[in-house]
Amino acid sequence: MTLYMHYRFPLALALLIAITACSNNSDNSDNRAGDLEDPEVIAQGMEIFRFDTFGDEAFWTDVLGMHDVIASSVDPTTALSVGLKVDAEALPPEIITGIESGSVDLQDPDTTIALLKLDAVVGIKGRVESVGGNDRLVRVGITCALCHSTVDDSFAPGIGRRLDGWPNRDLDPGAIIALSPALSEETRAVYNSWGPGKFDARFNLDGLNGAHVIPPAYGLRGIHSITSTGDGDDIAYWNRYVAVTQMGGQGSFYDERTGVNITNGTEDLVSSKLPALQAYQLSLEPPAPPAGSFDPAAAERGKAVFEGGGQCASCHSGDRFTDANDRLHQPNQVVSEPEPEGAPSWAARSATGLYRTAPLEGIWQHPPYFHNGSAPTLAAVVEIYNSRKQLGLSSAEKADLVQYLKSL
Ligand code: HEC
Ligand code: HEC
Repeated sequence: MTLYMHYRFPLALALLIAITACSNNSDNSDNRAGDLEDPEVIAQGMEIFRFDTFGDEAFWTDVLGMHDVIASSVDPTTALSVGLKVDAEALPPEIITGIESGSVDLQDPDTTIALLKLDAVVGIKGRVESVGGNDRLVRVGITCALCHSTVDDSFAPGIGRRLDGWPNRDLDPGAIIALSPALSEETRAVYNSWGPGKFDARFNLDGLNGAHVIPPAYGLRGIHSITSTGDGDDIAYWNRYVAVTQMGGQGSFYDERTGVNITNGTEDLVSSKLPALQAYQLSLEPPAPPAGSFDPAAAERGKAVFEGGGQCASCHSGDRFTDANDRLHQPNQVVSEPEPEGAPSWAARSATGLYRTAPLEGIWQHPPYFHNGSAPTLAAVVEIYNSRKQLGLSSAEKADLVQYLKSL
């Protein structure tokens, strides 16, 4: 018995290591389970998530010229109108009282530069230098927080405490990029077509246009299938992809499945940061639904529909409401395809060609739904499933199911 145990254990371990090594998708970062709980690593990861540009100023400043755009035409009112958020906790008392009294001019781009100097614009990192006694924005870059953080509006709309991991569905990244003078009219039109809360993280590589909603970066612990198409087995895979190919960070990304092979610069400012960045994201739990936002008795009945007649739990299974660790799904089994308005299939542009069952915790927080945002509300989601899958749910069952989804 002892002998058997003795042999079996290392074999299982060796197998596990072999499996992990094979499924690592040519990504040289790994998921160091030991670091996950280390508060110091998580704190480092938070700094990276909020403030690290990975040297992407080379793109946002040197190529797009966004420092000039901001300095000449992006006052705080304009910035808030394209969904940028201000971290109220980074503001000193005199700025707070100045905004309250109106003595801080929210229609002056110099105020934006003052906010950037304070590191108060969520997801935008500026370097401000004093030239002849005047503050000048000399470099600007973006961080992960731009798309995956918002604020709680505790001070004013768009100004409050950071909520990391919450997708910023007000943000219009396409409209922001389209401000750059470096783009052709044709490219600018594509960026302007996406609208708030969406971004196409493949357009600059495959030239196709079909924006994806900005998803949460919370609630991913235990899910070993990342992105809506399950392209990577860990968060670090996709973080490397975005940092290098979308943000313009200095480093490399290669995936033989899609043929994407990009190296920016000669230094690697990405790889060493991925383990801590991943640990931070894995520490972010989905937000609980606000008190009073759903009817508990109806939600309880809706749970029975979810697990019974709705057949939802056949895919949305387990603690995170997803079968992602076991399988992905063919696009023709997924109700969000075909894409609206003749847009190209998102799955067809990915490494897997398939969809991952979306995790559902915190779903109340981020309408619209599905990768393409094709369902504006949870009621619309239920309606789509009911008709596409011919579930034959009654109005009462549909209403209960919506209450259940709001409770997750
Ligand atoms: C310009 C907006 C933008 C920026 C900046 C950005 N992302 Fe994303 N992120 C997206 C979009 C859009 C997707 C959806 C892609 C998909 O699922 O195919 C995504 C997907 C993800 C996912 C997958 C979520 C899931 O459910 O599997 C994670 C995790 C993530 N991003 C983290 C990050 C991190 C960390 C950074 C910084 C290195 C970052 N993102 C930068 C827009 C952005
Ligand atoms: C065949 C497997 C399958 C079944 C059955 C299924 N889903 Fe889904 N669900 C998915 C997949 C895959 C996605 C992601 C689609 C996408 O990204 O466009 C998804 C997405 C969703 C979303 C959107 C999540 C988001 O973040 O936008 C909701 C809500 C949802 N499903 C609820 C349900 C409900 C309610 C039922 C039962 C009526 C159900 N699902 C049945 C596979 C399934």
